[in-house]
Amino acid sequence: IVGSGSSSKVIATLPSGESVEVLLFGATVTSWKSNGGKTENLWLSEKAVLDGSKAVRGGVPVVFPVFGPPPKEGHATSALPQHGFARTSRWEFLGKSTSEGTADSNSIKLDFGLYTKGLSEEARKAWPLDFGLVYSVTLSKDSLQTVVNVRNEGETSFEFQFLLHTYLKIQDISKIAINGLGAVEYVDKVLDATTHKQSDSSITVTGEVDRVYKSIPQDTTSVVEDGKPRFDVVRDNLQDTVLWNPWIEKAKAMADFSPDDAYKQMVCVEVGAVQGWQKLEKGEVFEGGQTIKSLL
Ligand code: BG6
Repeated sequence: IVGSGSSSKVIATLPSGESVEVLLFGATVTSWKSNGGKTENLWLSEKAVLDGSKAVRGGVPVVFPVFGPPPKEGHATSALPQHGFARTSRWEFLGKSTSEGTADSNSIKLDFGLYTKGLSEEARKAWPLDFGLVYSVTLSKDSLQTVVNVRNEGETSFEFQFLLHTYLKIQDISKIAINGLGAVEYVDKVLDATTHKQSDSSITVTGEVDRVYKSIPQDTTSVVEDGKPRFDVVRDNLQDTVLWNPWIEKAKAMADFSPDDAYKQMVCVEVGAVQGWQKLEKGEVFEGGQTIKSLL
């Protein structure tokens, strides 16, 4: 653990130079370097607030127990802020485990926990349910795996949504193509919040995009840059993916998004379970996550 107070983070490095940094605040992965430590794979805003007073603009914020604005009323999450409380709560560092194999199969796993007792009073009041989250971040030579385990520790059932709001760092948005979501139905949050489907299997980003792809048949979403494979984002027990880029105006309007034109260097491919609700009875557990492969 490096630092103290709200900005403490955990840093892990493989003998071959790859590294990961995780802020205890939100258990937000803020840096993941592959390629011997030479390639940063995650975009982080220059004005990201890292002291715990605001959700981090960049990296991999954890969205739980509600995605986006909660239902206006009548749901247990209705009193929560956009994207819930996991990304704005301080998590516990549960420990590190290393698995040593050949140079290519070395990995380090970092575990983080968030429990009802660790919530702010405000969040606890807004969502008075007993839960335990364990979030495991595993660094390998060419990949990063992030998996959450949600347990219902209370007497009554609860419903939740979950999403990993990954900001991938790219060189130039005009040169990327996204494969694996093309012919899947999506809800367009920019247009009209209704369902659409495009016929082209490859997606390019040429303006603001905020789409929720649901019940995706294949597990891998690929990002190709300049004709070369750049990332594979593989879903594990998660059926949905959000594709987001704020583009010019929205990027400018976000005080913590910097520089203004950095929308060209990022694209959010956010895996999750956001269609309807996941329900857990007393004592039940849900597990889901992603493996991101850096293909440079
Ligand atoms: C995405 C949503 O997941 O997150 C967008 O689909 C939203 O609608 C974006 O704008 C960023 O949210 P926030 O709360 O981090 O500004």
